[in-house]
Amino acid sequence: MNRRLRFVTHNAYKVREIGAILGAAGIEVLGLDDLPAFEVVEDGDSFEANAEKKARAIHRWTDDAALADDSGLAVDLLGGAPGIHSARYAGAGLKRGEQDAANRVKLHAALAGHEKPKARFICVLAYVEKNKKPLFFRGEVEGTITASERGTFGFGYDPMFVPTGSTRTFAEYSPAEKNAVSHRAKALQALMRHLAG
Ligand code: IMP
Repeated sequence: MNRRLRFVTHNAYKVREIGAILGAAGIEVLGLDDLPAFEVVEDGDSFEANAEKKARAIHRWTDDAALADDSGLAVDLLGGAPGIHSARYAGAGLKRGEQDAANRVKLHAALAGHEKPKARFICVLAYVEKNKKPLFFRGEVEGTITASERGTFGFGYDPMFVPTGSTRTFAEYSPAEKNAVSHRAKALQALMRHLAG
């Protein structure tokens, strides 16, 4: 391993997934387990601002380079909503599974009467080395919103999103299939091209 970075997330699954991908490129990915617990309020006005805020938060404790992501679903007809508010679109304070289901119900209601509205998943990665300008890597997947939910894999808005060129929702993709084409995968590929270059 010739480089290392911190992935700023409390999601061990994400650390493993990104660790495997970047590990193959000689980059060691560490989580936050050895650092004091902290919360970052995601009150930025863009995916970039929120991702940068999360990445910068760790430099209180370590000089390691930091990587953080922020993601969401943007619907054209709704002017890009729910966008950066995707996680709590239906309101805060719900449990994870209930939250995702309530978000989907609210989005279907907002799009009632529209056939196959266009939408895109967006993921922005912020890569921050201490005392340097942040670098941003964006991945997007275009698609449409279905009239009803289909599929059991994935999370969030996956059961109502069909990527362009497919007939299946992301929740009907296996995790490996989705990870090969997702907005997160694309952002990560852009980061890897940068780190390799
Ligand atoms: P976060 O970036 O992990 O905070 O996710 C923001 C929110 O966007 C999630 O809670 C989901 O509602 C939505 N979202 C982001 N990526 C995906 C995805 O791959 N599938 C479904 N929903 C997603």
